[in-house]
Parts: sequence; structure tokens; C-alpha cells
Amino acid sequence: MITIGVTGGIAAYKIIDVASLLTKKGYEVQAVMTKNATEFVAPLTFSTITSKPVIVDMFKQEKDGAVLHIEIAKKTELLLIAPATANIIAKLKNGLADDFLTTMTLATKCKVVIAPAMNSNMYTNQIVQENIEYLKSKGFLFIEPDSGLLACGDIGIGKLPTADKIVSYVLKTIEEMNIKQDLLGKKYLITAGRTVEAIDPMRYLSNYSTGKMGYALATMAQKRGAIVTLISGPTNLKPPAGVTVVNVRSAMEMYEEVHKYFKDTDVVIKAAAVADFRPKEVQQDKIKKGADTLTLELIKNPDILKSLGDAKENQILVGFAAESENLIENAINKLNSKNLDIIVANNIKQDGAGFNTDTNIATIIDKSGKINNLSKMSKEELANIILDKTRMER
Ligand code: PMT
Repeated sequence: MITIGVTGGIAAYKIIDVASLLTKKGYEVQAVMTKNATEFVAPLTFSTITSKPVIVDMFKQEKDGAVLHIEIAKKTELLLIAPATANIIAKLKNGLADDFLTTMTLATKCKVVIAPAMNSNMYTNQIVQENIEYLKSKGFLFIEPDSGLLACGDIGIGKLPTADKIVSYVLKTIEEMNIKQDLLGKKYLITAGRTVEAIDPMRYLSNYSTGKMGYALATMAQKRGAIVTLISGPTNLKPPAGVTVVNVRSAMEMYEEVHKYFKDTDVVIKAAAVADFRPKEVQQDKIKKGADTLTLELIKNPDILKSLGDAKENQILVGFAAESENLIENAINKLNSKNLDIIVANNIKQDGAGFNTDTNIATIIDKSGKINNLSKMSKEELANIILDKTRMER
């Protein structure tokens, strides 16, 4: 059952459409309104759409001696609070339970999705933002309000998104809730992105990795129940929800961080594109362009994956091989020389594969010599196949 908690904002009328769309999709919808919400929309409207009495009052709803707020809290699979006022957000942050909605929210163990809607000065107020951040850290999900002309005449952020947007967010959340939890409690250490090797205060050596492959792995592993630590080089990507992200720049920093976590890890997946070399000396001042040529002396970075292969106890080690020729042969060499369980080979010269694309074309090879050639697919799909494979190795 989806419970919709409606609070007292002008956007309450838009939630009639949300309730209607979800009901038409076959969901059982229970509306709960705060007293203030009933000033904006009549409970009768929601009860007509959902074919269920609307719950407003904490004490008028007892039936057959049942404690209704606990019963609804247990029955609810997803609670959507929309529109959510600054007041309800503050109450939830402080654990208040002074009406039916706040009481059942405290009592429920289901996913709670909050769609704030208010004047932009209120929404951007530091107190409201801190309350939102706090609730996010406790696992509450938030639908970002839209920007535009607000009911009060101001222009800015704070508009409730359209009913369609809210419904698709709810449906996506339900889909994610149904993802199998087959990695529950397993500790995954994933590396992503490029490393950056400083030359002088202005310049560096690096490569084209965006981090998309590693972030897809971290996202999917987390969704499947794993406890994920992501060691990430510089990227423009948003940190995946529920994942511990450790930001690094150079290969040496990545080496340090990976080894901090390695002992207490079940599976390591090294999708990062680590620089094999770094400048021998980092110039303290900007190198001047006086001479016609410039020679940089490079020294080897440690091979992080190989050092893990040498130190491996019970961990499953997955490496990537980014190749531009002899894909399988080079990948098998890396699998053996780095003592890996699995290697994922991708040809960085192939269209739709490797760096800076949303897709990849990979061949997965395991230590028994089994070779699985995969077709072009999204990095999320490939991530799931790699994660399946790590389960089979256990
Ligand atoms: O980030 P995206 O834009 O999504 O691109 C994805 C990707 C192309 C970066 C990814 O699919 C990929 O192939 N990652 C591995 C890149 C790489 O460094 O490959 P390699 O063949 O040079 O290294 C082999 C393995 O050793 C890799 O797992 C690498 O992380 C690891 N390595 C390499 C060098 C080094 N000094 N330390 C390492 O641990």
C-alpha cells in the first residue's frame, strides 16, 4: 500500500492527481492529511479518488480496538509526504509525533519520500536545508522542488514538481525496493575514475576516465544490499546514495586508501584508470616555456591491483583491462600476473566501449579460463553482470 501524507500547503491540490494516477495504476492508496491540509483540499476529494476514508485525526479512527497509526505504518510499503511544508520537515527531523502523520511516520519502517514545496526563501533557509540534510542522512528520500513562479508571486525554487514527475519518482523507488538483496551485508571496495599526477602547480598527467563504470558498479552493489566504499579519482559525477565515497587524486593516494580498507573487504573491483607513471619531481613553481623542448622524467607508480593480488587472503579480486589491441591475450596476462579472480576486458578504441560513454562492450574472463563475450550494454547492466559473477566466485 502507498500512503500519501498531505500537509498544509497550496500545492496540496496537485496531490489529487498523484493519488488518482497511482490508483489508476492499480496501487492501493491511503491518504493521510494534517489538519492544515484540510484547509486547502477537502478530505472527501481524496476519499472519493482512493475509495478509502481519509485519516486526519489521531483519536477518531480506532477500529475494533486496533491502533490505527501502527496498523497503517506496518501496512504501508512506501510513504509519500507531499507537499511537505517546512513545518513537517522540522517535526520529522526532531522526531515529533503530535498528529497522525508524524506518529505513523515515526512508527513506519518503509521508505519515506518527501516532496517539499514552499516559498523559495523558506526552502533555501539554512535551517530548512540542514533539516533536509539530516533527514537524508537517515535514509529519507527527497524530490527536489522545481523553480518558477510560486503561489506567493515570488520566482524561485520551491514549486512542487508535476504529478507525473512525483509519480515516476515513486514508481522508480518502488522498483528499486524490489531489487534482489543478494549482496546484503557484503563489503565491496570499488575504485573509479582517473588519477591525476601533478607536474607543477598548474599542470598534470591524467587520462579520459569519467568514473561512469566504477560509479555504476558502486550504485548497483549498494542497491543490491552491499556495504560499498568507493575510492574515486576526480569526476563530475554525483556521489551514489548510500555509498561511502573517499576522494583521491593521485595513484599514490589511491594506493594508500585502497590498502586502508582492503583487509576488511569481501570483494574489490578496480575500475579506476590509474596512471602507470608520475613525474619524478613535482615542480613547486609553474614551468616556464623558455626552451623549445621539455623533457619530463617519469617514475613508475605502484601497481595497486598487483599489490592486492600479492596480499590477498579470502577477498575476491576483480580487475579491468583497458586495451587498444590484443584484448583477450593482454587481459589473461593481467589476470594471471596480478593474481585476480576475474578480469573485465574492454577495448578503448571500440565505439560504445571504454572511456566516457554510458555503454560498454566487455569480455569477462575468470581464473578458470572461462571467457564470456558480452554485447554492447549500459554500464549499469554490465555492473550487474560483474556483480553476479562475484557472487558465483564466493
Ligand atoms: O570511467 P569511464 O569513463 O566509465 O571508463 C571506464 C574505464 C575504461 C576506465 C574502465 O572500463 C576500465 O577499463 N578501467 C581500467 C583502466 C585501466 O587502468 O586499465 P589497465 O589495463 O591499465 O589496468 C589494469 C588493472 O590494473 C585495472 O583494474 C587498474 O585499475 C589496475 N591498475 C593499473 C595501474 C596501476 N598502477 N594500478 C592499478 O591498480
